[in-house]
Amino acid sequence: TEWTTKLRYLPYKDWSDQQIIDIEQKIANSHWRLGYHIQPSTGLLNDPNGFSYFNGQWHLFYQSFPYGPVHGLKNWTHLTSDDLVHWKDHGPLLLPGDKQDSHGAYSGSAIPVDDKLFLIYTGNVRDKAWVRHPKQDGAWVDTENKLTKISTPLIEEPKAGFTDHFRDPQILKHDGKYYCLIGARKKDDTGHVLVYQADSVTGPWQYKTELKFTDQKMGYMIECPNLVFVDGQPVLIFCPQGIAQDVLSYKNIYPNAYIIGKGFDWEKFEFIEPSEIKNLDDGFDVYATEVLNAPDGRALTVSWIGLPDTNYPSDIEGWANCYSLVKELHLEDNELYQIPVVENNHLMRNEITTSEITPQSKISINLDENQSGQVSVKTELGEELQIQLNATNGNILVDRTNTGVAVAVDHGTIRETNVGQGKITAELYLDNTVFELYINGGKKVITGRIFPKGQQFFVDSKNVQLQKVQLEKIY
Ligand code: FRU
Repeated sequence: TEWTTKLRYLPYKDWSDQQIIDIEQKIANSHWRLGYHIQPSTGLLNDPNGFSYFNGQWHLFYQSFPYGPVHGLKNWTHLTSDDLVHWKDHGPLLLPGDKQDSHGAYSGSAIPVDDKLFLIYTGNVRDKAWVRHPKQDGAWVDTENKLTKISTPLIEEPKAGFTDHFRDPQILKHDGKYYCLIGARKKDDTGHVLVYQADSVTGPWQYKTELKFTDQKMGYMIECPNLVFVDGQPVLIFCPQGIAQDVLSYKNIYPNAYIIGKGFDWEKFEFIEPSEIKNLDDGFDVYATEVLNAPDGRALTVSWIGLPDTNYPSDIEGWANCYSLVKELHLEDNELYQIPVVENNHLMRNEITTSEITPQSKISINLDENQSGQVSVKTELGEELQIQLNATNGNILVDRTNTGVAVAVDHGTIRETNVGQGKITAELYLDNTVFELYINGGKKVITGRIFPKGQQFFVDSKNVQLQKVQLEKIY
C-alpha cells in the first residue's frame, strides 16, 4: 500500500472490512507479536489516553489507526482491566469524523464525574487548505461503555500568540475545581504548558496561566504534559520536542522527560524548587507516558513504546508499537523510581532452569559490589541483546546492535545509564520483541524493542547471579 495523505485520512466508512481481515491474517502469522504487553489488534498504536479507574474497573484507551501501521485518522480504542495486567480490547470507542474532530480524535485524558467517565481530547480539524484548527473536545462514557460526544468544542482555538500545535489535554481536579494542562507551541517556536480552569468539566473553560516548572527553554513544542503527585510532590512528565542537548542529553528522536518539584503552588501553578530535567527512560523507545493518581493512592503510569516519525520492522506484519507494563512511581532522595505494579506477579509461572527461556520471561540479575558482569539474550541465529553491568562505577549498557532487523539506527544502537557505585540488581521483563529493564528498584529503566529473525531465546551470562521465571502468555 502506498500511504498517501488521502488514504490515511479516508473516512472509516470508506474502508472495506476486508482491510482489517487482511491485516488480521498477517498478524496471525506474526513472529513478533507480544504475549503480555498491550498491542494494537491491527494497525498502529500510539499514545495511551484516558487512563482512569471507573465503574469498578481500570480503563485505558489507545491512539489507534486500525487500517495500517502508519499515522492516519486516529480513534481511541477502549481497554478495560480488573488488575492492570490482563486487558480486554473492546475496539474503537471514540471515533473521529465529526465537525469538532474531523481529522482525528487525538490524545487526552479522562476523569470520573458522578456515574460517568468524562473524556477530554484534542479534535484534530483541518480545513480545505489543510490548515489545522485544533479543538479541545469532550465526551461521556456511561457504565455500559456507551459513548456520547459533546458536539461543541470546550476550547475553540489556541490562545493568541500560539500556533496550531495545541493539544493533549490532561484533566485534573483540585479543591472542587477542574484544571486542564495543554501542550502548546508558541509562535516564537518555544514549547509551553498552558493551564485552563473550569467549575464544571463541560465548561466554560477559561485560560488561567502557564504552568511554571523551569526557566530553561523546553524545545519548540511540548507534547503530552502530565502532572502527577508522587508521595505528595509534583512531577511533570512531558515530551519537549527539539529540546537542546545541553539542557537534556538524549539519544532518541524525541525525549520523554520529567521534572520534580519540592512542592506545588496551586494559585500560581508553579513548581516550588524544581529539579533538573531528566530522561524518564534511558532506553530506545519510550514516549508519551500517561499518568494516573489512582483512587487507591498509587501514582501510576503507562508509556507508549514507540516513537513518532519512526518506522518499526513489524510494519510489514500490519501492526506497530505497544505499551509498557503499568508502572508505579515513588520518590526517594528526590529521585524518581519506577517499578511494574505488583499485580504483574500474576504473570509469574515456573522457574526456568535451562539456558533456553520462553519468549515471555522475567530474568532477575544480581551483581556483587566491585564486580562487572554481563547478561545476553540470544537467539538460535546468534542474534544478541547484550547487557553490561559495572558495579565499580554503576554503569549499565544495553546494546541492541545485533538483535536482528534494525530500528532507528541513526539514533544509535546502544544506550547507557548510571545508578552509582555499589551492588546492582535488575529485573529484565522480556516479551518476545520488547524488553523492560528495571535497575536497582526502578531507579533507572531501560526499555526497547528488538526484532530478531530467530525464534528461540537463550540466556548467557558472566559473573552475575540469575533467576529466570516463565511469564504467562495472555495474548
Ligand atoms: C504524540 C502525538 C500527540 C497527539 C497524538 C496524535 O505522539 O503526536 O501530540 O495528540 O500523538 O496521534
